[in-house]
Amino acid sequence: MDQLPNRILVFAGSARSGSFNKRLARLAAGRVEAAGGQATFIDLRDYPIPLYDGDLEREQGIPAPARHLKDVLAEHSGLIVVSPEYNGFITPLLKNTLDWLSRPDGDQDGLALFRNRVGCVLSASPGGLGGMRSLALARQLLTNLGVTVLPDQLAVPGAAKAFTDDGELADSGARERLDQICHRLVETLDRLNPPAGR
Ligand SMILES: Cc1cc2nc3c(=O)[nH]c(=O)nc-3n(C[C@H](O)[C@H](O)[C@H](O)COP(=O)(O)O)c2cc1C
Repeated sequence: MDQLPNRILVFAGSARSGSFNKRLARLAAGRVEAAGGQATFIDLRDYPIPLYDGDLEREQGIPAPARHLKDVLAEHSGLIVVSPEYNGFITPLLKNTLDWLSRPDGDQDGLALFRNRVGCVLSASPGGLGGMRSLALARQLLTNLGVTVLPDQLAVPGAAKAFTDDGELADSGARERLDQICHRLVETLDRLNPPAGR
């Protein structure tokens, strides 16, 4: 039986309905599929996780949406995190989500979910730097959790005008870069965990 293609979970650190970073995440998911991988785009709006609070965790355990997200992540060997930038940092939503995911659940070590995963980081911002400063921090956080983060990254500046009406990136250089990054991620995962027959 053929092995399933390596699966890559794709999400943005914004819940906003018109989020530029969600647009970029959807594009990245499409690029992964075009490169022969299998992508799952999720919207963090569908996982309303409360702000981390040690008392809440002690009294009620891991909140159901966070537990659900843990199950989703467990089925993926790759990760694309698209990080908006707030005051030069990653968003509270992204940090809070990753913090809850890193918590142990019963016998399960929280960090086991991230170990041996390979990922990459992308960002988009209406500003001139495209959220570049948040990329370094998203990379550092994922690395701290145990994810091997590829060096390739993309920051999309001027996001209000960076997408065409059909949701594609307007700039050909950015389109090529996104192709290249997603291709490299699929290729890296295939090398680490080759599909049957290779
Ligand atoms: C509290 C706050 C701080 C922000 N700080 C930055 C910033 O440091 N750099 C930047 O490029 N954009 C900044 N922005 C603008 C965001 O990049 C912009 O709101 C963007 O659309 C958020 O991502 P989203 O479209 O995916 O929701 C900030 C926005 C908010 C709400």
